[in-house]
Amino acid sequence: MESVKTKKIFETAEDFLPINGTDYIELYVGNAKQAAHYYKSAFGFQSVAYCGLETGNKEKVSYVLEQGKIRLVLTSPLVKDGLINDHINLHGDGVKVIALWVDDATKAWEEATKRGAKSYFSPKKDKDENGFVITSGIHTYGDTVHIFVERYHYNGPFLPGYKSWNEEYNPPGVGLKYVDHMVGNVEWGEMNTWCEFYAKVMGFTQLVSFDDKDISTEYTALMSKVMSNGNGRIKFPINEPADGKKRSQIEEYINFYNGAGVQHIAVATENIIETVSALRRRGVEFLHVPDNYYDNVLERVGEIDEDLKPLRDLNILIDRDDEGYLLQIFTKPVVSRPTMFFEIIQRKGAQSFGKGNFKALFEAIEREQEQRGTL
Ligand SMILES: [Fe+2]
Repeated sequence: MESVKTKKIFETAEDFLPINGTDYIELYVGNAKQAAHYYKSAFGFQSVAYCGLETGNKEKVSYVLEQGKIRLVLTSPLVKDGLINDHINLHGDGVKVIALWVDDATKAWEEATKRGAKSYFSPKKDKDENGFVITSGIHTYGDTVHIFVERYHYNGPFLPGYKSWNEEYNPPGVGLKYVDHMVGNVEWGEMNTWCEFYAKVMGFTQLVSFDDKDISTEYTALMSKVMSNGNGRIKFPINEPADGKKRSQIEEYINFYNGAGVQHIAVATENIIETVSALRRRGVEFLHVPDNYYDNVLERVGEIDEDLKPLRDLNILIDRDDEGYLLQIFTKPVVSRPTMFFEIIQRKGAQSFGKGNFKALFEAIEREQEQRGTL
């Protein structure tokens, strides 16, 4: 992969470790083989690479899948005990690694650790017949880590140690293009700690902030700040719970995940009606907003290119900011515990995160929490 010099769009970002984009997202899961089948069948990801017993790895098995620029790695242990088992025992299936594509993984690690990041592993070079890759890692919130990946001297399917994974079963994609943002849920009072971490250690800047007045219903509340790197390709909103009459979705997440972790992965499409139609046909479950959401939505957001009917039929939400509008929808949790879920988003100018939908959305989540007895 060629290195690309990307334009800095947020001047307030210090950006001392330039990031080209999300390299991959690795989930530790109980059954990587079945999870891979789910992400292929339901979400339209394509088989890319594999490591496990057949490649000489006796400790773990990993399946690598891609759609557009989104790369998922699904990993399960092959042995009892060990860090992967501990992670799954404590958190259930969830995101372990948010890997970031950089030009210089050694410098990224040096800059980050110099500024206080806790090292996950120091820079190392792995090679095979396809070239070499340099990686390094730092810890972030909870048990989540960032791995910096420098891969412009590598032509293999994923990383050294992996082989191509070819299968006859290849359902088509659903039009998912890239990771738009990834949200972290952190514990009470920890939001600012982690926003400062991304500012100080990673050189990010804060885009927006929502307090409990923006994000609350009659019952529950949360607070959120959005951190971005300089070119805007990496956006990490950070949520913390806020006081409400009942238990918020962030608390529910933290209780079941046993700590901070990735709450949702927002993936972009250029045609949300087609993408969500395909996902629904393939059995992906989405949060339901009441029909009356659509009664006056166009008065709120103004004119849009799409017909309202398919958006209403598919339960897609609409919001507008100064720069344009966006269409978005949220899946139900995709793992056994009520923790991680996906957002599908189509941006039509808007660079924000759907503030106008927060209330409708959280009321929808409260209805689900009610059924789970966790409100
Ligand atoms: Fe989001």
